[in-house]
Amino acid sequence: MTDTDHRDSYPPSPAFAAAANADASLYQRAETDRDAFWAEQAAALHWHEPWTRVLDWSAAPVARWFVDGKLNVTYNCVDRHVLDGHGDQVAIHWEGEPGDSRAITYRELLAEVSRAANYFTELGLVAGDRVAIYMPMVPEAIVAILACARLGLTHSVVFAGFSPSALRQRVDDASARLVITTDGQWRRGKPAPLKEAVDEALSANGSTPHSVEHVLVVRRVGIEVAWTEGRDVWWHETVAEASDQHEAQPFDAEHPLFILYTSGTTGKPKGILHTSGGYLTQAAYTHHNVFDHQAGQDVYWCTADIGWVTGHSYIVYGPLANRATQVVYEGTPNYPDEHRHWQIIEKYGVSIYYTAPTLVRTFMKWGREIPDAHDLSSVRVLGSVGEPINPEAWRWYRDVIGAGTAPIVDTWWQTETGTIMISPLPGVTATKPGAAMTPLPGISAKVVDEEGNPVRLGETEANGYLVLDQPWPSMLRGIWGDPDRFRSTYWERYAEQGWYFAGDGAKLDTDGDLWVLGRVDDVMNVSGHRISTAEVESALVGHSGVAEAAVVGASDATTGQGIVAFVILTAETTDTGNALVEELKAEVARAISPIARPREIHVVPELPKTRSGKIMRRLLRDVAEGNELGDTSTLVDPTVFEAIKAGKS
Ligand code: WT7
Repeated sequence: MTDTDHRDSYPPSPAFAAAANADASLYQRAETDRDAFWAEQAAALHWHEPWTRVLDWSAAPVARWFVDGKLNVTYNCVDRHVLDGHGDQVAIHWEGEPGDSRAITYRELLAEVSRAANYFTELGLVAGDRVAIYMPMVPEAIVAILACARLGLTHSVVFAGFSPSALRQRVDDASARLVITTDGQWRRGKPAPLKEAVDEALSANGSTPHSVEHVLVVRRVGIEVAWTEGRDVWWHETVAEASDQHEAQPFDAEHPLFILYTSGTTGKPKGILHTSGGYLTQAAYTHHNVFDHQAGQDVYWCTADIGWVTGHSYIVYGPLANRATQVVYEGTPNYPDEHRHWQIIEKYGVSIYYTAPTLVRTFMKWGREIPDAHDLSSVRVLGSVGEPINPEAWRWYRDVIGAGTAPIVDTWWQTETGTIMISPLPGVTATKPGAAMTPLPGISAKVVDEEGNPVRLGETEANGYLVLDQPWPSMLRGIWGDPDRFRSTYWERYAEQGWYFAGDGAKLDTDGDLWVLGRVDDVMNVSGHRISTAEVESALVGHSGVAEAAVVGASDATTGQGIVAFVILTAETTDTGNALVEELKAEVARAISPIARPREIHVVPELPKTRSGKIMRRLLRDVAEGNELGDTSTLVDPTVFEAIKAGKS
């Protein structure tokens, strides 16, 4: 393993540090008294009734935070800003894919949410009922989420790219009474049906009854839709006609807020359950400090989809609790062309931009002349989430998008953790390209071996498993309907210590800073040496000829696993032959260690990715090992395999 990257660090400028929301004393305060620290963060919210106890961990692993406290999540995200005199501040600059746009103030958002809450009540929905939301990135999706939270309805957002059967599975698991959708969604200039998928989902399984009483449909693209009288209702004929006056009621801090499904090791997705007070506290706290968000000044943009947890915590709850003005964009980054994101940043003066490494690498592939053609001088903080960001992409991101000065916050967290756990603080941390650095103030994490011993600091083999050894406010409270799976998945591995097992490998560098290496099943074992797929990928994309790389460990009779790499070359690279492949192998051996030298490198035109942008290594492993392909249903484009197989032969 190379240590060279660890010496490369980027402190904030003195000016940034001086003006930042967070300074180093935050760590000190959290260390001194954790409960008092979290109580202080919770106090930034409006509580209808105060809590009597900060944390009750007696029923571990199910935590209760802010015991007996009562609040209304939506009141905190909307009403109180209007009451405080900020009704005219824009909450959402919505940018539609075809180029239409809407600016929605906090006052307008309150009116919309109130109408929706009144109509949901008219439908007979009561606190505790579940509502499925299957929508593209339209403002009504955010309104629907907030109306659910306002009424204590538990929302289950299902990514609008999921199939009808995936939707049905989630609707059934949670027994949703209402499904909210749109007629269709814009896909690169063309309307694609969406309500049709709901119809298919609900008529699936023959005559098997389902829990859904109504389907509420927003008209977005104007296509014809089939209609089930008595069940289906138009948003513009119902919600839009309802009263815009609605009084928010308080709910218990532990009232269920949402369920969000995420894939596990089995075929059945896990319904991750989050509750209200602790979740909102940590969402607001992290958004404020990690992004250094200044209400009324910053223009914030998180490019995630509301179908993923990043959209929940960093488009809806965190930013709105903090009175952000934010951009919400409906479409893809290359429609109508690759300039779209930079045009949006220019148009709205975006100052905080939060995206995924896979997109950064895509931008690199398209070439820096595209962002260079725009004025991005408003950008002052950059965020990364979803996978380890390779140092090459990190540097490009900072130099090209952040003018060589914007701090990058590499934020590690999971659907299960609810909000950010490990990340730099932009005004405090001297960041290192590729490192998530340290747990946030109030959060505790360790890197341990199989037995739970902390890995030794400063040694080359300081790799281990990432565990969370203290409860945190936004932690999952369970898996919907499956307490056994909740315990076995996260709490069994280190049951003796009572730690949460994150499923990620991590390493501590010689300074004690933390580098997340990726899922443990993505960590290869070659001749008894643990090598991260992410590290090999990073080494490959560190070569100027490589735009993107995916690495898997394929079974090998001699070494246990052998490293197989799939690479996409940059547009400029003309040599696609053996010489280049040999050069790349040598580069990896050089950058990491001869034991990390790939067994095979295949030049391919595409990589298989999920709709959230994650490379599906499991499928690549199947290709590498010549197996039958497993489930490809969550892929953006299943045909990429033809191309990959062609590249492999
Ligand atoms: C997994 C969680 C967090 C919201 C989006 C994904 C990986 C996430 C990082 C990061 C390295 C990261 C981990 C984690 N991951 N952020 N900054 N550095 N890895 O949520 O789908 O629940 O996935 O994403 O492997 O366990 P998710």
